[in-house]
Amino acid sequence: MRAVQLTEFGGPEVLQVADLPVPEPGTGELLIRVSRAGLNFGDTHQRRNQYIAKHALPVVLGGEVAGVVERVGPPGERSLSDSSVRAMKIHQRVADTPGFEPGERVIALLRMGGYAEYAVAPAARTFRIPVGVSDDDALALLIQGLTAWHLWRTSAHLAEGESVVVHSAAGGVGSLLTQLAKPMGAGRVIATAGSPERRAEALELGADVAIAPDGADLADGGPNGEDGGEAGPGGDGAADVDAGSSGGNVGGLTRALIAANGGNPVDVVLDAAGGAVFAQSLAALAPFGRIVAYGNSTREKMPVTNGELLKESRAVVGFWLMHLLDRRDMLEQPLADLFARAARGELHPRIGGAYPLADAARAHEDLEARRTTGKLTLDPAR
Ligand SMILES: NC(=O)c1ccc[n+]([C@@H]2O[C@H](COP(=O)([O-])OP(=O)(O)OC[C@H]3O[C@@H](n4cnc5c(N)ncnc54)[C@H](OP(=O)(O)O)[C@@H]3O)[C@@H](O)[C@H]2O)c1
Repeated sequence: MRAVQLTEFGGPEVLQVADLPVPEPGTGELLIRVSRAGLNFGDTHQRRNQYIAKHALPVVLGGEVAGVVERVGPPGERSLSDSSVRAMKIHQRVADTPGFEPGERVIALLRMGGYAEYAVAPAARTFRIPVGVSDDDALALLIQGLTAWHLWRTSAHLAEGESVVVHSAAGGVGSLLTQLAKPMGAGRVIATAGSPERRAEALELGADVAIAPDGADLADGGPNGEDGGEAGPGGDGAADVDAGSSGGNVGGLTRALIAANGGNPVDVVLDAAGGAVFAQSLAALAPFGRIVAYGNSTREKMPVTNGELLKESRAVVGFWLMHLLDRRDMLEQPLADLFARAARGELHPRIGGAYPLADAARAHEDLEARRTTGKLTLDPAR
């Protein structure tokens, strides 16, 4: 089969198509004929070996696929040779997982191996695609949809009417976060995105105001969004805003966020950029406000001190989807909720396009250059 295999870590050029054997599903696993492999920004970290979880070479990237069940792994007990608690849990999970039949249309979460014509997935992390939902839409709701759902519900504990900031609001996760914000209870929704087109997209997705990730547009007093003129006191948000006693991290973005919230600090920030965006957003939080760190696109880590948290009654929360992988209870119901919201027309997954498998390098280049919007996929048939 054709697969994009890494034999070294590095730039997009290391993504090369190779001819590999079709993998064999074990007990509790399924062989899936892949129609679409999901691309995620995290894949670019994995390609550089800068991801939280490390992988040995050679490796086929790709943490999610849509496709058709080709074959079900052999029945029986999964290898329990190491009679560890982990093996017991795997055994339990296999028993609890509904059976799948060849020919069923599914999406699946994988640790690796998705950029290929065939992929092996644990049945416990495989889900049927509802009738009427395209493979692209289903895939857009898997990693990115589940991330968006849990960011609001599990990590931010969003309360009715709270003001929220969604950074990277036109991306895969961001576009879903923006659409889900008000249906999940948010009050004022402030988006950031890196270009005028992406900010226009964020407004279309339901944000009340959209500003640049460095806050430069509001710091300059420029109006933004339908009622963006109200965002800054006197149209000059940056100059007049009191960002509290937030220490050295107050900057243009801090002031712009507070200005965009009518001069008030914000309740919730969802951040995948890290670096100055994280630090300046933390400084814009109201007492009892929460910032959820779920990505590090800038690749810049920021330290936080206990003193600055207690002084302002602020919380920093982390989120990594990996911790849900063995929790089918935290996957199945949220996914069903996302599909139901899409069916009701409340949620429109934004599809950024399908690249041929052979163009995986170009897809990564576009992701890293911030040129894309919505969900990107690879098409193994091309
Ligand atoms: N924690 C988890 O389990 C989890 C799960 C899924 C995704 N994520 C993370 O969520 C983020 C979004 O993922 P995605 O798959 O939705 O990606 P995506 O569609 O490519 O969106 C990435 C966004 O990040 C911004 N961005 C890109 N490069 C950047 C840079 N160097 N500095 C600052 N911002 C940059 C861009 O927004 P603008 O240019 O408009 O600012 C872009 O919209 C990534 O950081 C990813 O690692 C985390």
